[in-house]
Amino acid sequence: MDMTTSIVDHTFRKDVRRCFDEQAYAIPARWLYDRRGSELFEDITELPEYYPTRTETGLLLDHGSDFASAIGKGRAVIEFGSGSSVKTPHLLRAIDPAAYVPIDISGEFLEHSAAMLQDDFPDLPVHPVEADFMRRVQLPDAVAELPKLGFFPGSTIGNMIARSSVDLLRSMRETLGIGSQLLIGMDRVKDRQVLLDAYDDSAGVTAQFSLNLLDRINRELDGDIPVGKFRHVAVWNDDYARVEIYLEAQDDVTFSIDGTSHSLAAGQRIHIENSHKFGLRDARLMLRAGGWTPLEDWSDERDYFTLILAEAHPYKHAP
Ligand code: TRP
Repeated sequence: MDMTTSIVDHTFRKDVRRCFDEQAYAIPARWLYDRRGSELFEDITELPEYYPTRTETGLLLDHGSDFASAIGKGRAVIEFGSGSSVKTPHLLRAIDPAAYVPIDISGEFLEHSAAMLQDDFPDLPVHPVEADFMRRVQLPDAVAELPKLGFFPGSTIGNMIARSSVDLLRSMRETLGIGSQLLIGMDRVKDRQVLLDAYDDSAGVTAQFSLNLLDRINRELDGDIPVGKFRHVAVWNDDYARVEIYLEAQDDVTFSIDGTSHSLAAGQRIHIENSHKFGLRDARLMLRAGGWTPLEDWSDERDYFTLILAEAHPYKHAP
């Protein structure tokens, strides 16, 4: 077993214990993305109901010349949580960067997607960094002197609660430095049914994706959770402007994990994800709170999704 695997094992176990031993009934969403989960998420991005990926990709394709003039050539593009990097080529083609630095917590994914991208851009220096981007990241020396553009697509910022999203924006400012730019995708507040359908599709792929978390617990933590007794639930929380995802026990259930027995009453929900949605002013305020000045934004004609370009200006004394 390599080092990375054992660290993942340890924190996964700790997080799952907290869920059931301390009756927290919540598991961090990052554990959804094991190999099977990542495959299922790729399938989600192709569902008719799941508009975010398609809409954001459309924006990247449609506004290449806007990016070229607002961002310019010769920057180092730093992608936070690059995953499979599928949207990145559209941006790189538009702005002709000097280097590309994908940052991801999963080294395995990172090497693979960096190699794929290198095939498409043989002359582009690519410097993958395996790191947790929630904290300040030490960038490779090769890009230290280059002007920088952070890239954070997918409305991943919306998967954090407000306090963490602002912490992240501030640490990105630290990582990239004053004078850097950030291109960030944010999913917009919209018709409730459109939102709910995006997180509970008719083919049931999203349900499989959520329920895979229980399978993963069974596989990796020696569990015997009766997965068939749980259902995937998506609800809109209007106070928080977010879709919340739960796994709900449909019966009283008893199971064991790691040799410890647990019981849940019928109807008990386990919270596994939040996906916040933003108004344009909410989005700009959040960026400013994190130390980023919004410069320009681009939305599709239905205002389903927005890409915002922001800049890290020096802090000034304010009245
Ligand atoms: N970042 C994605 C989003 O909020 C993740 C996601 C899509 C997701 N569908 C999901 C997470 C269903 C949990 C369950 O859009």
